[in-house]
Amino acid sequence: MPRCWTALLVAGAVLLGAPVHAQEPAAHSGLGRPPTDAELHDVLVGPDGEDLPPGSGTVADGERIFAARGCANCHGPTGEEGPSIPLVGGDVTTRSNYWPIQHWPFAPSIWDYIRRVMPYDRPGILTVDETYALTAYLLHRNGIIGEEDVMTADTLPQVRMPRRDDYLIPETWTPATRRGFEILPER
Ligand code: HEC
Repeated sequence: MPRCWTALLVAGAVLLGAPVHAQEPAAHSGLGRPPTDAELHDVLVGPDGEDLPPGSGTVADGERIFAARGCANCHGPTGEEGPSIPLVGGDVTTRSNYWPIQHWPFAPSIWDYIRRVMPYDRPGILTVDETYALTAYLLHRNGIIGEEDVMTADTLPQVRMPRRDDYLIPETWTPATRRGFEILPER
């Protein structure tokens, strides 16, 4: 058999074999790495809370964890004193991206934010239950849930945020949807 035919056959065999090999772990490629714990935690939970994991947390636990996990170092012993932004009360300001918890439209978003972003200096260290407890604590401190309310994957999405009705759900986008300056009110 001419050499070029042999080469073609080998190339064909390699190509045919490729999908099979692709499914095996690339043990010796030297590329990629397993995700870190922090990356595994980096799961988005949407405003409807559908992706909330099983777990639970109480207001009392949240108060304890707020101190134990160092939240108080930045937000103050009761979440109001700072030096960082207050987590209780507060007014909307156009000077920063600060949006007080009382103005957030969906409670699961608070859980999602705390779990992925806080504590600011060590994001990813909080467990699922700690995050439920911290969310419960902050919702209670903002007068949104009762002291005995327990936050779980079922109860958190049912929390009605006080300013929920100030928000409109955007219309489903189509190429005909008006945008940018087209939607500014006429002067
Ligand atoms: C090292 C300082 C620091 C620590 C520790 C910290 N935070 Fe924060 N936190 C911040 C800063 C700064 C912001 C504002 C971030 C921004 O707007 O980008 C913030 C924002 C927040 C917000 C969003 C508030 C809003 O209305 O926008 C929540 C909720 C929050 N932190 C909860 C916590 C909790 C719970 C902990 C403890 C697990 C914690 N933080 C620990 C610095 C900190």
